[in-house]
Amino acid sequence: MVRVGVVGAGTMGHGIAQVAAMAGYEVVLTDVDAGAVERGIGKVRGNLDKGVEKGKVAPADRDAALAALRAGSLADVAACDLQIEAVPEKHDLKVALFRQLEATAAPTAILATNTSSLSVGAIAAELAHPERVIGTHFFNPVHIMALLEVIVAERTAPEVLEAVKAFGQRIGKDVIVVKDAPGFATSRLGVCLGMEAIRMVEQGVASPEDIDKAMVLGYRHPVGPLKLTDMVGLDVRMHIGEYLAGALGNPAFEPPELMRRMVAEGRLGKKSGRGFYDW
Ligand SMILES: NC(=O)c1ccc[n+]([C@@H]2O[C@H](COP(=O)([O-])OP(=O)(O)OC[C@H]3O[C@@H](n4cnc5c(N)ncnc54)[C@H](O)[C@@H]3O)[C@@H](O)[C@H]2O)c1
Repeated sequence: MVRVGVVGAGTMGHGIAQVAAMAGYEVVLTDVDAGAVERGIGKVRGNLDKGVEKGKVAPADRDAALAALRAGSLADVAACDLQIEAVPEKHDLKVALFRQLEATAAPTAILATNTSSLSVGAIAAELAHPERVIGTHFFNPVHIMALLEVIVAERTAPEVLEAVKAFGQRIGKDVIVVKDAPGFATSRLGVCLGMEAIRMVEQGVASPEDIDKAMVLGYRHPVGPLKLTDMVGLDVRMHIGEYLAGALGNPAFEPPELMRRMVAEGRLGKKSGRGFYDW
């Protein structure tokens, strides 16, 4: 694997392009919005400059990474060995994009989706070659977070999994391999803990601060479940909870009444200035 193409240059796409370029791949980044690619490459430059300032990145490595990364078109991405999409979380959009890419991709090219919740198998099922589709779930910010959650759908070819595991190792991520089940491993566990913590606030078991301390000091979580819910956004987590409650048939994921009330009042967490905490 030599060339990596990334479609969607937003929050996740530019970060994925950065880690691939730093690992020595030839990377092409594209977006429907040309300005987004420019901003994305600007952010990569900013991240790398900060790395150099902090002594974490050698100036020569920054320069090599920037030289390996270029803006391109969808046709450039279709010529890549690994094609990763990081476009908005909409099934139909991802399918339409992969259909376009697979029409001209080499038979050995891999199509990877950065979806955080959609079924990888359902996306793959709408393509001519579902065996080349896999999930590569990165975490934000991509250049800092150590985890790469690889999602294997029912028809994903074993050699595709092996190639993506090798890619993950080369970009310096810790790879976990998860079946294409709702919520994968990360969202399923994270959201479950978050919903239970909210129910505990609702029942007056303890204050949000003390519930978070229970996990931070008692279980060494870096952030408590309520602060994390504030950081992700109560609305975003509520929708994931609703989806998982239905998909898994498990009422533990059902958003508590308190959460629904807070969302209705616009108390969405960090982005609105108020959630379980004042920000
Ligand atoms: N933000 C996160 O913390 C996070 C974490 C893990 C996974 N994800 C997943 O990553 C994906 C991207 O999320 P994001 O937060 O980077 O979104 P974003 O909105 O920041 O970026 C999406 C980009 O895709 C572009 N785009 C839209 N339609 C396109 C098309 N047809 N072709 C090419 N580009 C197109 C947009 O112009 C935008 O620049 C989603 O599936 C999301 O669920 C996000």
